[in-house]
Amino acid sequence: MSFRGGPVLGIESSCDETSAAVVLQGRVTGHVILSQDAHAVFGGVVPEIAARQHLAHIDGVVAQTLDEAGVRPADLAGIGVTAGPGLVGALLVGLNWAKGFGYALGLPVVGVHHMEAHLFANSLESPEATPPFVALLISGGHTLLLHASEWGTYELLGSTRDDAVGEAFDKVARRLGLGFPGGPEIEKLARQGSAGTYRLPRPMLSTREGPGDAGYFDFSFSGLKTAASLLIAEVEQAEGGDLDTARAHVAAEFQAAVVEVLVTKTMRAVEHTGCPRVLLGGGVARNGPLRERLAAALEPTGSMFAPSPRLSTDNAAMVARLAEYRLLAGQVDGLDLNADPALSFPGLS
Ligand code: KG4
Ligand code: ZN
Repeated sequence: MSFRGGPVLGIESSCDETSAAVVLQGRVTGHVILSQDAHAVFGGVVPEIAARQHLAHIDGVVAQTLDEAGVRPADLAGIGVTAGPGLVGALLVGLNWAKGFGYALGLPVVGVHHMEAHLFANSLESPEATPPFVALLISGGHTLLLHASEWGTYELLGSTRDDAVGEAFDKVARRLGLGFPGGPEIEKLARQGSAGTYRLPRPMLSTREGPGDAGYFDFSFSGLKTAASLLIAEVEQAEGGDLDTARAHVAAEFQAAVVEVLVTKTMRAVEHTGCPRVLLGGGVARNGPLRERLAAALEPTGSMFAPSPRLSTDNAAMVARLAEYRLLAGQVDGLDLNADPALSFPGLS
């Protein structure tokens, strides 16, 4: 079954967003994202609930997407679906749905890597966001710093040695009594506080290291998370003072520490590769102070690409966009395509 060109349907169900989109020649014509709010009371995503919610909503999400795009199933030319990484039960719902739909309609189906799709999110809004670039992919499950010489050819420069950066935001937010997901909540609270009132560490920023050293491009957020947690316990136990303001100061300092680490490591990658074009992807790329600081660090010669908030977090438009690219390159998967919760990044060296 080969791709003859035409609208591509993308399906995303790797975590807690049930999403479908139609992309035609790099442009989104229909897009629905259903964020499951059933997890909020648990303070994190419950895999079993996520899978059940995907199953309950995927038909309706796709129907609404096709309606918005003004296409009938018979008008579609191909299907792309997230095959991994992610929660296996959640992935399986989207994947089997896509395979069944593709089989019934005689359409080519291609499985895509969720984090590579985050890279492609940028090109939906900025067609010039193409390789070469340095990419900082920052989400709830991943922290990756890579260099792309062309689509599909990526050099891994650094990654996290423990927690992903979004995970650290979520855990510190929880400790501060904030809602889930924690990133936006910390960003909001931080506006009422001042970084520097308290001091938290900036992990793995040794100035004695160079590109040949193991930790030069890598990240570690677990120690920072623990330090923030201890600081919160300290301010909560302190006599007197305004606890709400103290918490806002902690949020501001935590965010400042994360931003400083992310910006410094990214600028190291820019210097090392000689490539001043930086692309952001993943939910943490929504963070305002991070965008501002990184854009400022790249001036005056560099450029930064970051998707709009809706396309930064999980969505199917990025999946459809990557699928369209791969289908045009003649890549199609068979019915043996399977979900892989630990799928490795394609083309990575
Ligand atoms: O890419 P994404 O939607 O899902 C994954 O693939 O993991 O990323 C979700 C993560 C969560 O950890 C959330 O707290 C974080 O992105 N996030 C943010 C912000 N908005 C979402 N982190 C910092 N600042 C934000 N404004
Ligand atoms: Zn994601």
